[in-house]
Amino acid sequence: MFVCSCFGVTEEQVKSHAEAGACTPRQIASACKAGTDCGGCVRRIQALLGRGACPRRELADQGAPVLAELPEAA
Ligand code: FES
Repeated sequence: MFVCSCFGVTEEQVKSHAEAGACTPRQIASACKAGTDCGGCVRRIQALLGRGACPRRELADQGAPVLAELPEAA
C-alpha cells in the first residue's frame, strides 16, 4: 500500500527506512523523498513512525539528536 503517492513510496519502504534509523518524517524524506512534494503523506508517515516502526524511537525520545520535524503544511 502506498504511503506517498507523489513518489510511489510504500508503507514497507517507510518501515525499512525506519528500521535503518530514520525516526522522523524529515529523515524519511531524506531517504526516499516521501513527503517532499504535496506533503499530504507526512501525517501517515508520522503515524507509521509512531507505531513503533523505528527501533531507535526511544533514543530520540530521550533527547538523542534527530533532525527537526517538517513544518506543518499551511
Ligand atoms: S503524497 Fe507524499 S509528497 Fe505527496
